[in-house]
Amino acid sequence: MENFKGRDLLSIADLSHEEIQTLLTLASDLKSGTISIHCDKILGLLFYKASTRTRVSFTSAMYQLGGQVIDLNPDRSQVGRGEPLIDTARVLDRYIDILAIRTFRQEDLQTFADYSHIPIINALTDLEHPCQILADLLTIKECFGQLAGLTMTYVGDGNNVAYSLLLGGALMGMKVHIATPKGYELSEEVVKRAKTLANNESDILITTDAIAAVKGSQVIYTDVWASMGQEDSAESRIPIFQPYQVNNELLSYADPEAIVLHCLPAHRGEEITEEVIEGKHSKVWDEAENRMHVQKALLASLLGF
Ligand code: CP
Ligand code: NVA
Repeated sequence: MENFKGRDLLSIADLSHEEIQTLLTLASDLKSGTISIHCDKILGLLFYKASTRTRVSFTSAMYQLGGQVIDLNPDRSQVGRGEPLIDTARVLDRYIDILAIRTFRQEDLQTFADYSHIPIINALTDLEHPCQILADLLTIKECFGQLAGLTMTYVGDGNNVAYSLLLGGALMGMKVHIATPKGYELSEEVVKRAKTLANNESDILITTDAIAAVKGSQVIYTDVWASMGQEDSAESRIPIFQPYQVNNELLSYADPEAIVLHCLPAHRGEEITEEVIEGKHSKVWDEAENRMHVQKALLASLLGF
């Protein structure tokens, strides 16, 4: 685990194919109890946006490892009153051993990484959600025994989850299809980056056609149509995104053994129907559980255990 010690995880692409495999194997071993790690360190959580899964799964993971957690609620910290991030970063690294941050700007995460010596983990920014994608990859591996060669289709908004999923899937040798409405695509720069990570550029399909994207896919993935911070446009997005709803009709074009993933929280009747999220293809509850197992593996690895 030595090669992970002291590193940051700001993007899923900070990890190589082999490092992701190592983390997923460790997560599986921790989940099954084959391995147990004792890690008496302190994790800080600095979350500027709401969270259930990420906050609680990080907290439980650290407690199960034997460590402790400090919730640095920005509303009750000086950083919420405008103390510069560069000062906060240099002070926190004297008190805690590792810090997970959920914030808006990826640049702010980078500032923390630049000004502190402890590992900084991206717990979601407007740009990326790498911890989510580690859990998604573990869930897919549990279902199919492999990642390489599978087709994973993301349908919906070209957001933070879509970005990390595209990079992570490409890194792991998957075929990744992304279907978004026109005007809500991932940026060209993001797609270009993913193509450099993929085995073949042709493994990546970017389209506005949800049915064409889903055809024959083993993994169907969706997320909310309006992310945190985009609440004002939520209503106006509904008619635009309607053709991208993951429902039984869309699912009928996928591989009959396909699984359905969603990072949650879900809006039933919008990006996913009740019948699909509660149906036999849905693996969303295992996916949510796996957040805790991969983050335990990540914490232990970055802390050098
Ligand atoms: N999927 C996810 O990150 O959920 P939370 O916003 O509840 O943490
Ligand atoms: N794209 C969503 C993910 C929530 C876990 C958001 O950023 O709000």
